[in-house]
Amino acid sequence: MGAEVVVEGLTKSFGRQTIWRDVTLTLPPGEVSVMLGPSGTGKSVFLKSIIGLLKPERGSCEINGVDIVTCSEHKLYEIRKLFGVLFQDGALFGSMNLYDNVAFPLREHTKKSEAEIRKIVLEKLDMTGLNGAEKKLPGEISGGMRKRAGLARALVLDPEIILVDEPDSGLDPVRTSYISQLLIDLNTQIDATILIVSHNINLARTVPDNIGMLFRRELVMFGPREVLLTSEEPVVKQFLNGSRLGPIGMSEEKDEATMAAEQAHVDAGHHDGSTDDVSGVVPQIQPTPGLGERSAVGRRLDRVMSILHTLPPAAQEGIKESLTEDEKARYGVGASQFRPSPRPRDSGEWRSSSGDLGDGEVAELPNSSWRNAPPGGGA
Ligand SMILES: Nc1ncnc2c1ncn2[C@@H]1O[C@H](COP(=O)(O)OP(=O)(O)OP(=O)(O)O)[C@@H](O)[C@H]1O
Ligand SMILES: [Mg+2]
Repeated sequence: MGAEVVVEGLTKSFGRQTIWRDVTLTLPPGEVSVMLGPSGTGKSVFLKSIIGLLKPERGSCEINGVDIVTCSEHKLYEIRKLFGVLFQDGALFGSMNLYDNVAFPLREHTKKSEAEIRKIVLEKLDMTGLNGAEKKLPGEISGGMRKRAGLARALVLDPEIILVDEPDSGLDPVRTSYISQLLIDLNTQIDATILIVSHNINLARTVPDNIGMLFRRELVMFGPREVLLTSEEPVVKQFLNGSRLGPIGMSEEKDEATMAAEQAHVDAGHHDGSTDDVSGVVPQIQPTPGLGERSAVGRRLDRVMSILHTLPPAAQEGIKESLTEDEKARYGVGASQFRPSPRPRDSGEWRSSSGDLGDGEVAELPNSSWRNAPPGGGA
């Protein structure tokens, strides 16, 4: 199973510009998480901070008990070996064919023989659907193939944690669906912890177990997918609907007057350019038949059911509705006995109930009545 990533109170600035502050979340081991957020909110910076390419000023990011913010270069080098990273453009070497690109980390970081390397490279090319393309140069293949080649290269060192920056950028909707399926299949096959940064609403709704969102230098929320997908938080709703109406503007933030003017425009019957109203919990993508179950599914269900009473009522309902009859019986969720618990408003009450909850799993919602777990350990 992949490694847990425990982020606490992380703050990153460049000079006097704070990118985000006090980010606390836990990537549960072996689960798939997506980080959403408008352009420029620091999603890529977050990804780079998690693997120690950028140094946050405050807070910690613990992986296997090592805080990569403060550890030595040597420790960081060791921890980095746990990661596979797909950068936004695939970042392939243009003069190397796909085979050599994918083999590169193995030749660089291991003492494996060429025969061993060949076996691994062909296996990863097969996993990413690039059979027969190994002699092609990056410039000779499509953007979708380049993404998959980048993913193949991210996989060769058997990563426990996979970070993927905008796997869908520049791809058509069909290719994006293939990438979504591939990410779920990968998780099924290697049970790695996966964090995907994306703008893609469809991917965000159907792929991850957990969703987070960065906005206005804060982590607006992070938690089980049902929390975000049923959220009434204006910024989350606006983002999921791709709407102009809401707090997010062209230059990220918007003033009250602009919001009112836009609302009036739409009230007068003008279309706001958004997709249809999307809300609610849609089914998650299943692994390709023949691959078996994702181990993360069962683990996540146990975890989510143990924190169910701390989640907002709509999320509780969404989770409850997704359970099979067997699962309802197992977790003692019956139509008659199940009632969403009241929201924990009083912080004392919250604290007393959070000791056994996977604290860092749900992040704070600013200005929301739904209070959130204090910083702490994961699942
Ligand atoms: N090395 C750097 N030095 C200074 N500022 C930086 C650096 N890297 C990123 N930034 C700034 O940090 C902010 C966040 O950038 P980042 O690339 O993380 O955004 P993003 O959320 O990934 O956006 P997009 O969705 O467009 O990819 C931007 O204002 C950017 O200019
Ligand atoms: Mg980015």
